[in-house]
Order: sequence, then structure tokens, then C-alpha cells
Amino acid sequence: MNIVMLTGAGISAESGLATFRAADGLWEGHRVEDVATPEAFARDPAQVHSFYDARRARLREVEPNAAHVALARLDAEWPDELLIVTQNVDDLHKRAGAKRLLHMHGELNKGWCLACGERFAWAGPMGESACCPACEVAGSVRPDIVWFGEMPYDMECIDAALQHADLFVSIGTSGAVYPAAGFVQTARYCGARTLEINLEPSAGSIFFDEVRIGPASELVPAWVEEILSCSPAKAGA
Ligand code: OAD
Repeated sequence: MNIVMLTGAGISAESGLATFRAADGLWEGHRVEDVATPEAFARDPAQVHSFYDARRARLREVEPNAAHVALARLDAEWPDELLIVTQNVDDLHKRAGAKRLLHMHGELNKGWCLACGERFAWAGPMGESACCPACEVAGSVRPDIVWFGEMPYDMECIDAALQHADLFVSIGTSGAVYPAAGFVQTARYCGARTLEINLEPSAGSIFFDEVRIGPASELVPAWVEEILSCSPAKAGA
């Protein structure tokens, strides 16, 4: 049985990272248009860098929670195809040990040089005068984050996985941002069973065969336990 999982900010909420669509409509006190668009970066690179420098620094203060750990366990133990697609730019899936993982909206711990096109690991503050480790040009490095209006990464690979999925599971995402919000419909159309795990029904809840409401740190480990106990490997053992 092939599994594709889509995760969003809700899976990292219990680690202490803010979700995007909080009640005040702001992301960590900022309007999304001021920090998460290419236009904002062109207009005020210092403000955008300082926002992402703060988000990157925050990663050092948080740890993966039980939901990240459970998905990493499923990744390690599941014998068939499996893919974790995350919209999150944090590194908590990776630190929990997930390997079959794609960051469709980029990563806080990476930089992208607009002078030579290279993408590379980045720790610590980036700022406006950051120097590219590949071409050594200073001042052309931006956070490797997919901003509004830009194309998410790895879409061909994700689409292929959705077409082969037998089970699609969406965890901790509001279903407000496309293309990720449309994955459930693609998976369904291609024959997958669909499950949503979220604190509240998402915008696309009606497209799921099953919806489980509650905190990811409790529901995800329980679901992983359940699915591993009836996995093909166990069944054949
Ligand atoms: P949102 O902030 O839109 O949604 C988070 C979802 O997680 C909500 O539906 C919450 O109810 C749910 N949630 C919160 N705490 C939870 C918990 N402990 N357990 C389970 N669910 C919980 O975040 P995303 O859907 O990830 O894009 O946002 C999608 C994209 O919009 C982001 O990747 C980002 C953003 O703007 C870009 O930056 C391109």
C-alpha cells in the first residue's frame, strides 16, 4: 500500500512554532505580503531577511514532537512506497529522522544565490550582505523559501506519488493554499483513500473519506501504530 502524507504548520504547533492563519490573520505579527512575497523582498530586503533570520534562530529552541517522531518511524518501517510532503519550512521532520521527505515550500536552513542559481545549507543569520559559498558573490543570497506567487518545489515528483497513492493523509494544514490544498482531490481521483488529521475540519474536509479531529501529537502516533500493526510486512510475517 503506497502512502502519501501532506503536513502543514499544525504538525509543528505543539513544538512551539506558530501556525500561519492565527486568529489575528498575521504570521508572527507580520502581514504575509510584507514578508513572504518576491515583491516584499525587492522592496525591503532588510525586513524580509530579519524576519527569516528570526524564524531560523527560533528553530534552535524547538524540538520535534511525537507526531514528527511517529511519521519518521512510519517512514523507516513502511515496506511500500511512502512520501512525506511538507509545506513547513522548519527542519523538524528531518530532525525526527524522516528520509522520504520533500519540502515543497523550501527550507529555512537553506539559501539560494540569485547570482549563480546555487542552493546550499545555511545556518545562522543571512542578512543582506551574505556571501554565496559557490560563486562567492555577496548580496545576492535569499532564503530558499517558496514565496506567494512562486512555484512550489518538486511538483512533478509529488504528482507522480499522488497518482500511485493508495492512501493520502493530510495532517495539520488548513487547506487554504494551493497547489497543496488540491492534493486530496488528485489522490482521490486516482483511487486513494483519504484521511484528514487536524485540530478542526479544514477548508477541504468534505473531500476526505475520514476526518479525525484532535492534536497531531496524539492522533498521529495512534494512527501510525494502527497502520503499522496491519502493514503488509506484519501481515506476511
Ligand atoms: P495554517 O496556519 O493555514 O493551518 C494550520 C492548521 O493546523 C489549521 O487548520 C489548524 O487548525 C491546525 N492545527 C493547529 N494546531 C494543531 C495541532 N496541534 N494538531 C493538529 N492540527 C493543528 O498552516 P498551513 O496549512 O501549513 O505557505 O499553511 C499552508 C501554507 O500557507 C504555508 O506553507 C505557507 C502559508 O502561507 C508559504 O509560505 C508559501
